[in-house]
Amino acid sequence: MSALRIRHAVAADAAALARNMADWFLAAYGHASDAVNTAAFVAANFDAARQAAEIADPDIVTLLAEADGVMVGYAQLRFATRAPDSVSGADPAELGRFYFAPAFHGRGAAAELMQDACRVARERGRRRLWLLVWQESPQAIRFYEKHGFRKVGAAVFPVGEDRKADWVLCKPLDEAP
Ligand SMILES: CC(C)(COP(=O)(O)OP(=O)(O)OC[C@H]1O[C@@H](n2cnc3c(N)ncnc32)[C@H](O)[C@@H]1OP(=O)(O)O)[C@@H](O)C(=O)NCCC(=O)NCCS
Repeated sequence: MSALRIRHAVAADAAALARNMADWFLAAYGHASDAVNTAAFVAANFDAARQAAEIADPDIVTLLAEADGVMVGYAQLRFATRAPDSVSGADPAELGRFYFAPAFHGRGAAAELMQDACRVARERGRRRLWLLVWQESPQAIRFYEKHGFRKVGAAVFPVGEDRKADWVLCKPLDEAP
């Protein structure tokens, strides 16, 4: 794999980011809900205007991973969301989204982006990272557990009107990964 470049998203990235978000969500989870709920979720979350707003939001950091100048993955850190009660301890941050293009799974790229996401959260003074992951996503759960996340609780995640059973995972950020 050619070297990965990781950078903060800027306003000009919003349209391409929204397209990739939709494509990679559908590739990973398009089968998990019916077509109506899936389409509602994609329309509500992955449009260019919403991504422009999230990129501009000082409480959200969007990191892009690029190979040969092409976006192949992204992560979104959220600093103003309320952590679930199952996340104990001070100063948490949410890892709200973490996706790679299917062709980049299993190639080590996601590990590099995770390291950068943890570094950015630590630099903002956060001491733990939490996230939600679908309970039926063994690849993502295995990836997160390899990177120090542990199950601390369960949560419901709405995809349209479909309510998915998620795990809450949490990882301490006290030491460098
Ligand atoms: C989650 C994601 C970023 C991880 O990146 P990745 O490159 O696949 O990660 P890795 O290859 O380092 O680790 C995945 C692990 O899952 C394992 N795995 C893959 N498919 C699996 C399956 N069906 N069941 C169990 N484990 C599986 C892999 O073998 C690997 O474990 P190993 O290193 O012990 O062999 C990537 O898979 C992705 O973008 N998925 C779609 C989006 C997503 O689910 N994001 C998370 C939303 S919360």
